Amino acid sequence: MPINANNIAILGAGAIGQLIYHQLEAADAKAIFITKGVSGTHQQNLTFTNLAKKVSCSLATVIGFTQQEYHPKNLQHQLQNIELVIVCVKAYQVNDAVSSVIKYLPKHCHILLLHNGMGPHLQVQKKLLTQGLSVGTTSQGALKLAPWHVQQTGTGDSHLGPASGIPLVKNLKLLLLNAIPQSLWCDTILTYLWQKLAINAAINPLTTIDKCRNGALADPSYTLLINKIITELVNVAQADGVVLDKLVITNKVYEVITHTASNYSSMHQDVTHKRQTEIDYINGYIISRAKKHHLSCQINEQLLHQIKTIESQYLTIGLSDNPTY
Ligand code: PAF
Repeated sequence: MPINANNIAILGAGAIGQLIYHQLEAADAKAIFITKGVSGTHQQNLTFTNLAKKVSCSLATVIGFTQQEYHPKNLQHQLQNIELVIVCVKAYQVNDAVSSVIKYLPKHCHILLLHNGMGPHLQVQKKLLTQGLSVGTTSQGALKLAPWHVQQTGTGDSHLGPASGIPLVKNLKLLLLNAIPQSLWCDTILTYLWQKLAINAAINPLTTIDKCRNGALADPSYTLLINKIITELVNVAQADGVVLDKLVITNKVYEVITHTASNYSSMHQDVTHKRQTEIDYINGYIISRAKKHHLSCQINEQLLHQIKTIESQYLTIGLSDNPTY
């Protein structure tokens, strides 16, 4: 029997948000979108190209609102049955995105954050009064071909788990795990977030600085640098109470370099399109936790500095093409 998943909303209509939508739909669960990219509520035609390049179409309800244009009563009414909001926006947009909708969500609604990097959950959990919070990470690849057309570009593991408050109810947890391929529920989710952070901390800035595809990092000239990035991260994570096996993490980083060899990292793409990067929530998060524990992490600081310098060439002069969500 099809599940009426009009009780799930996806906040953010980026590539990953749309990919999750199609995966839910394939599992007979129809979610709705909440996005700042458009205004008003409407039915939207969506196109999906899967890994086998097969194209399919569907119709989704999109609740759009712009910064200036709020319809509080409408929004509250439209979101009254929502039990789960999956937040699929850039790390630096999470706080603003959640703040925009939190007051319109039912008290028992659960929030799941799905983004690159770490840190926003610390801001979001302060905002939640009654809603429970989960966090997750995915290594699935997706590319936006047009505003409402995404293509899946790669498979990958997804890890989801509890962060704070009332846990996600069992039927929604099972629905997510059934819909998202290679997904796992992990009670020790922080370990997986740090593991994914290591992948992003090594691949994203290096491919951006050297303007290369992920696969280029398999060259032995990067071995020492990648080793240093991981060593610093493992030490900081340990001081933060998360014990990581350096060899396992290193193998994971190289596994992703190999699996995504022909891809450009998301940070490389952000810089190409003159968008703000997620550096503050990747290497920047390692640095902020290091400071808290009085640890030094020179290499991560150096990478942050180099990316900030690149960003400053377009962000300060107003050329940024930051996506709305
Ligand atoms: O940010 C990215 O690009 C991706 O998370 C990853 C896994 C590094 C692959 O490109």
